[in-house]
Amino acid sequence: MLKGTLLYLANRRPVYRAVMRHDLLRGLTQRYVAGEDLADGIVVAQTLNTQRLMATLDHLGESVTNAAEARAATAGYLEALETISREQVDANISLKLTQLGLDVSRELCVAHLRKILERARELETFVRIDMESSAYTQRTLDVHAELWNEGFHNVGVVLQTYLLRTAADVQRAIEMGVRVRLCKGAYLEPARVAYANKADVDANYARLMERLMAHGTYPALATHDERLIRHAIAFAARESIGPERFEFQMLFGVRRDLQLRLVEQGYRVRIYVPYGRAWYPYLVRRMAERPANLMFFMRSMVQEALAGRRNGRRQG
Ligand code: FDA
Repeated sequence: MLKGTLLYLANRRPVYRAVMRHDLLRGLTQRYVAGEDLADGIVVAQTLNTQRLMATLDHLGESVTNAAEARAATAGYLEALETISREQVDANISLKLTQLGLDVSRELCVAHLRKILERARELETFVRIDMESSAYTQRTLDVHAELWNEGFHNVGVVLQTYLLRTAADVQRAIEMGVRVRLCKGAYLEPARVAYANKADVDANYARLMERLMAHGTYPALATHDERLIRHAIAFAARESIGPERFEFQMLFGVRRDLQLRLVEQGYRVRIYVPYGRAWYPYLVRRMAERPANLMFFMRSMVQEALAGRRNGRRQG
């Protein structure tokens, strides 16, 4: 219920404006976001590299409503690719199609993605298309398939185990040879398309993870769930799947202990590093994943309201 309310608030502009005006989430932003600029993302990625962790850089932004913003996001990603290559950072990029203009025009979005994939191919870098809410699942997979069929094989997708359709999508990705990042899913979804029960989402994760590890192309297992990570390690041992055939992925600011422990054990681990000014929806999704973050947010709101009343009394 709380989680649903929070995810609903992720798209409400008045709430967003109040949060920004009062800087209510400063503490959480610092925990989950590298900073406002590409340079901040690069520094974090370089630091992770010194700890043998790989990175994927996410220039925060989604749901853009005009072509100029989509062009700017594309330019931002091209700059990120150049910098990663020039500074020899062990990192690739993650992007969202609504950031490249999918809501403005499909052709525009495809043209932007094509430009990014061309440059990434020249620089021998990989591009991951994040998955957004279920309203975009089919369109995202269709845009991916279009560019894949043009010969761009340096691009992978994300599939979410809370969706009922995902077993079929995993099967198609295996047949195509597409690299999949498997995650549980972070959006508010109706019961007609998604499992409502967390146990079902986790069970589906375990099932699809096994399928991808056994038959897929270098899957990325994106989770902080220790039970599932132990399951992956045991399955790999049982099926003689070497640690070079898959990678674990986690979010910047989440379970650093576990990230480092897996690297120590010889596994490949990539950290998702977001940077940029449009951090609000990303942060709300992170809060929804962890009730303690929600309490922190509520406390900040109450403190802000009390401080406002005190100031009001003083001024009045
Ligand atoms: P679960 O939610 O069960 O959490 C397991 C444990 O992890 C918790 O008990 C807690 O200890 C810790 N934890 C999880 N989230 C935390 C948080 N925010 N703060 C602190 N601790 C936390 N989703 C999506 O819809 N589209 C996408 O493209 C992506 N991309 C993506 C990339 C990467 C690298 C990761 C790791 C995740 C995503 N996600 C995503 C988000 C994903 O769908 C999911 O919401 C989160 O990973 C949380 O789920 P877990 O699998 O970690 O399990």
